[in-house]
Amino acid sequence: MPQAVPALNVVMLGPPGAGKGTQAERFAGRHKIPKISTGDILREEVQAGSELGRVAKATMDAGNLVGDDVIIGIVRHRLCRPDAQRGFVLDGFPRTVHQATALDAMMDGRGGLVVVDIAVPEEVLVRRLAARRICQACGSNAPVEWTTACGKCGGPLMQRSDDGESVVRERLKVYLRQTKPLVDYYSARPTFRTIDGNQPPDVVTAAIDAAVDAAVAGVRL
Ligand code: AP5
Repeated sequence: MPQAVPALNVVMLGPPGAGKGTQAERFAGRHKIPKISTGDILREEVQAGSELGRVAKATMDAGNLVGDDVIIGIVRHRLCRPDAQRGFVLDGFPRTVHQATALDAMMDGRGGLVVVDIAVPEEVLVRRLAARRICQACGSNAPVEWTTACGKCGGPLMQRSDDGESVVRERLKVYLRQTKPLVDYYSARPTFRTIDGNQPPDVVTAAIDAAVDAAVAGVRL
């Protein structure tokens, strides 16, 4: 009988603007596993006008974190879907130690986690987020070549509602206080890797590929 391929379960950690979403999408596409972004899920709820979206919008626009129990429930539910059984890439989750311990419990029987921490200096993050434009219709991140309209659906480009400078500064403070401690939480694990995210996207992609391959093979880079 053919051997079952072990699931590839990856967490992209890092501050706002580090490139978690960009890299998670690339990684998921290459490995044919879902990218699960809690930020995207929340923005879809906002767009749909649900009760969760209404409550989450105020929190997100202030640069704060949505409550742990709500987010943990969303991720637990999402990981039960059939497409996540061969693995997944988490983008933006976990973000607190409480979320990380909940994720560890969810991983029972699913294989290990590879944790990739993307490091970028603060001033670069502020510049990137100030420049970011997204499609108002489909939410796609606009690469530089999309100047006025979305290259996927033709929708108008706009700044994300939490990308104004004062909210970005608040998000960075929240990151330092609540999410950076996850580096300590994970760093002693043999499958934890730090990547220099202040390089061109393709270079970061190649570094993540090499780091995940090495982590899976049990080799320290
Ligand atoms: P979320 O959407 O997760 O935002 P974030 O973590 O602040 O991350 P960003 O999407 O801003 O950045 P990113 O690291 O994904 O970078 P990206 O690839 O987009 O969360 C939003 C909010 O939702 C939170 O503030 C919170 O309120 C709530 N939330 C979400 N998850 C939660 C949770 N688990 N618990 C509680 N609340 C939660 O890139 C950014 C820009 O840089 C883009 O323009 C991109 O093109 C560019 N870029 C990317 N890589 C490079 C590169 N190498 N060089 C140059 N430019 C680059």
